[in-house]
Amino acid sequence: MTKGFPKNFLWGGALAANQVEGAWNEDGKGMSVADVAIYKSNLKLDDYEGHVAISSEMIEKAMADQDDKKYPKRIGIDFYHRYKEDLALFAEMGFKALRVSIAWTRIFPTGEEEEPNELGLQFYENLFSEMRRLGIEPIVTLSHYEMPLALSLKYNGWVERNVIDKFVKFCNVCFYRYKDLVKYWLTFNEIDSITRHPFTTAGIIPDRCAEGKEEETIYQALHHQFVASALVTASCHRIIPGSQVGCMLTKLTTYPNTCDPKDVEVTLKKNLLNYFPADVQVFGEYPVLIEKMFERKNIHIKMEPGDREILKKYPVDFVSFSYYMSLTESAKEGLEKTSGNTIMGIKNPYLPSTDWGWQIDPIGLKISLIELYDRYRKPLIIVENGMGAIDHVESDGTIHDNYRINYFREHIKQMKAAVEEGVELFGYTSWAPIDLVSAGTSQMSKRYGFIYVDQDDEGNGTLARSRKDSFYWYKKVIESNGEEL
Ligand code: BG6
Repeated sequence: MTKGFPKNFLWGGALAANQVEGAWNEDGKGMSVADVAIYKSNLKLDDYEGHVAISSEMIEKAMADQDDKKYPKRIGIDFYHRYKEDLALFAEMGFKALRVSIAWTRIFPTGEEEEPNELGLQFYENLFSEMRRLGIEPIVTLSHYEMPLALSLKYNGWVERNVIDKFVKFCNVCFYRYKDLVKYWLTFNEIDSITRHPFTTAGIIPDRCAEGKEEETIYQALHHQFVASALVTASCHRIIPGSQVGCMLTKLTTYPNTCDPKDVEVTLKKNLLNYFPADVQVFGEYPVLIEKMFERKNIHIKMEPGDREILKKYPVDFVSFSYYMSLTESAKEGLEKTSGNTIMGIKNPYLPSTDWGWQIDPIGLKISLIELYDRYRKPLIIVENGMGAIDHVESDGTIHDNYRINYFREHIKQMKAAVEEGVELFGYTSWAPIDLVSAGTSQMSKRYGFIYVDQDDEGNGTLARSRKDSFYWYKKVIESNGEEL
């Protein structure tokens, strides 16, 4: 029987440019969709609409507003200037890998320039070189909720087909520039999330979609992302021999609320819908059941001749995913709901929840690994897993985050069990190794890190970094290759 994790297992953490870098308008960077994300406090846990609300009016107002503190992603945690200090801390924990993203707007500020911005290219070259120097393998996401705002305004994001060419150009510039530094690439972060928050994921402004055609518009944009993902997979393989490209799915493992077949059926459909984008990227074709669903809903996806061939010819090499929690579904209306990772679900009485109502389910991670491996038979990597919590700093500066240690311990145990049962898993990057700005609410107080960052929701603080108890714990986990939990 396999014992424990493989020898070269990629232990590490994951970040996204727009949630850490700050310096939103420095060195030629253009505005991205993240830079107009306003801080949201006191949102009710089940106010999903409140989390994702966006309109042309809100965007215009934000663009004119120079009070950066109201838009925390503009400030991030100043990783742009402090990345060396942060990488040194990750290296101290023994990181083998770090997942980061490239902000498209640092390379092409509006997405349409002829030539790339050299200062932006240089920044990532410095970042990846420093990671290599420290023995940390870069895993790089090409699109993580940060497309150029200019493309969103001009083309309604990914809705117009010509955005494919602009993205391919951006990616190819990155592949040529970083070919000696980066082997692992991810195309679109949580590609399935386009149906839940189309603006963050794909720059789609809901009030600019034809009335009654919102769903069709979103699936059209998703089709463009599929084609773009396949095309850049092809060019990545061509430009960087031996490179590996992965898709990235939000694994929203959903259980039936009861064994009533009606509950089981709605749950099955929900899970199939969750798999659909990864199905296209792995199998290279739309699932028949999804095409039938489109027919029933009168959704027509415009495809160009050759699109289906492109999808078929260039599937991804591996499957990456985020996993934070599980959900429950029922055919009945009116059951108590709870919030989750960009989604709402029915409350599961068997599971505890985080301060933000996300249901903690380590066994769900094992279930997810088995399901994904059985379905795709491709190597897997977990590129996000973690818990947002309120941390308390003691008078001596220490932070005793046992809740976080417990969360990780239980998830890693299940991950190990799945590996021992035969799942091919080659890495684990926690979300997030350092406190950062929340994607959903732009809060700093929703802390994820092993490293504390002295900054509050209003943007006050010294930005000083300090080690939480979980820092020392995760270091031991990595040192022992997951044996000492
Ligand atoms: C994932 C995203 O959905 O969840 C991350 O890929 C995000 O960008 C993470 O930060 C946690 O969500 P939140 O809203 O708590 O930051």
